[in-house]
Amino acid sequence: MSEVIRYQTPVIHMRRTRPATPELGGKAIKQGDKVVMWYVSGNRDEGAIDEPERFVVGRPRARLHLAFGAGIHRCVGDRLAEMPAKDPVGGDPEAQSCARDRGSAGALYSNFIRGIRSLPVVIRT
Ligand code: HEM
Repeated sequence: MSEVIRYQTPVIHMRRTRPATPELGGKAIKQGDKVVMWYVSGNRDEGAIDEPERFVVGRPRARLHLAFGAGIHRCVGDRLAEMPAKDPVGGDPEAQSCARDRGSAGALYSNFIRGIRSLPVVIRT
């Protein structure tokens, strides 16, 4: 589900050295300059996305987000990465209804990956 990936944006940023374009957003880019692409910021851009702070199931054009990057380096594993978001319990509807949140998520300490270190749940079988 694209809205989950947009809202979470697991890869926070990537960096390029001396991109092909000599100018970006009105700023000159000199050889050797480094440009950081904040995917997490782009995915909250109110100029491009309606009410970006809201999680909207069924958002129109939901696939047009930046969580997988853009251009020639865009993630080649995007479809594979979306599979657990679409079906977290491997197609078992009973397991899905029995998963219960048992506490708050422990965040990964990183400025690169927005990850979760721990998420206590109980799954009744
Ligand atoms: C939620 C999971 C994932 C996220 C958020 C993600 C995100 C990204 C992002 C943002 C880039 C762009 C990097 C750049 O512009 O420099 C990228 C590139 C890439 N991803 Fe993923 N990715 C995910 C899962 C996967 C999976 C499952 C695979 C492979 C099975 C994969 C393979 C790749 C590869 C090979 C590239 C490099 C493409 C290139 O440089 O041409 N990714 N990914």
